[in-house]
Amino acid sequence: MDILKIKGPTKLFGSVKINGSKNASLPIMASALLTEGKSTIKQVPFLSDIAVCSELLRHLGCKVERDGDGNISIDATTIDNTVGEYEIVCRMRASICILGPLLARCGQAKVSMPGGCAIGDRPVDIHLRGLKALGAKIHLRNGYIIAKAENGLRGNEIFLGGPFGSTVLGTANVLMAATMAKGKTVIESAACEPEITDLAGFLTKMGAKITGIGSPRLTIEGVKQLKPVEYKVIPDRIEAGTFMVAASITKGQLKLENCELEHMMAVVDKLRSIGVIVEAAKNGCEVYRKGQIKTAELTTQSYPGFPTDLQAQFMALLALGKGNSVIIEKIFPDRFMHVAELNRMAANLRKEGPAVIISGVKKLVAAPVMASDLRASAALVLAAMAAEGTTTISRVYHIDRGYEKIEERLNPVGAKITRENI
Ligand code: EPZ
Repeated sequence: MDILKIKGPTKLFGSVKINGSKNASLPIMASALLTEGKSTIKQVPFLSDIAVCSELLRHLGCKVERDGDGNISIDATTIDNTVGEYEIVCRMRASICILGPLLARCGQAKVSMPGGCAIGDRPVDIHLRGLKALGAKIHLRNGYIIAKAENGLRGNEIFLGGPFGSTVLGTANVLMAATMAKGKTVIESAACEPEITDLAGFLTKMGAKITGIGSPRLTIEGVKQLKPVEYKVIPDRIEAGTFMVAASITKGQLKLENCELEHMMAVVDKLRSIGVIVEAAKNGCEVYRKGQIKTAELTTQSYPGFPTDLQAQFMALLALGKGNSVIIEKIFPDRFMHVAELNRMAANLRKEGPAVIISGVKKLVAAPVMASDLRASAALVLAAMAAEGTTTISRVYHIDRGYEKIEERLNPVGAKITRENI
């Protein structure tokens, strides 16, 4: 098992190139299942979740190859298995994305129910509701979702809203399935996240007929066949936001290249409101801070609101704010595993239901801490770079799921991070 040792406090200065988006790449990779032939997806990050997704697609019969430049080619000419096994799905929840395309292409799929995880229960009822509305017969047995559409899928009007708003991967699943359903599908309360817009861009290039892309109402005219294509995924807005916090928390200055500020308005607005300077630059931005961090009230929401995937990182930053801040988590109300760990580093955080009250402290102090999920571990890395002393973070496989070689990205700009295998 790897651990990270992080010596602080450090200031980060220099330039970082943002990688392609993990959460855009995963459903796009799954949608390659919709057609025979070889699709090539560019700018795919080197992450363990991408490796798991590749393994899953190979398991279904696809030929998956990747080169050293971030291109992944997926040849889905032959699909000789329609089962997403528990052993793979339990390693990555986004495996559920194969359900829609397998149903559309093969008329059947059996996929393990993804369980809960450190950020909450994470049900998939809305995915299933949407696919049922397209005519799929679905039942659950022995922990598996068994879906059949022997006579093909049929377009329908589908409301995809749930108790916590829209669903990102649920929208992806229903959208992918609807591209080849007979007739017209309208998805109301579709997720508007840039990753869904990117998926719709990929599907459109494949020949799908989708209107309303980027809005909560998607209209899809089913087509008989799609074709394989080449496509470049968008830059990772969550990785960019994490590096923005890295510059801010260390009081350094980072230039982020390949950063799409258009996708980050709520994040940039929040940073500016707490005294961080974000200046647009060619193909990216400069981020730095002059004074002390101010306080904020922050509520996570579906896009274009503030993303839940940056909640933990902002909590680390606001822990050093001048006064009291509040963070309310409206997407995953239990996504607070980082609170106790940040408190071990001398933060002063108090959880009250789906909210955390943050009393700003003057400094954070190193401690042994444990990563619990991907973004929580990013928050610990950020806090450790600002804290006095050497922090040890265990269970760093969580961070490797979403950040490509974090120490190799941060050390060249001034961080002091070593990875040890224990
Ligand atoms: C995606 O997960 C992302 N994952 C998550 O990123 C992200 O946190 C999340 O969207 C929200 O933005 C990928 O893209 C691979 P949801 P997803 O369905 O699609 C409830 C990261 O750190 N819900 O939009 O699984 C659900 O419980 C990860 O990179 C239902 O009730 O999330 C939650 O409260 C973690 N029933 C809300 O909706 C359903 O059927 C939004 O979840 C589906 C969801």
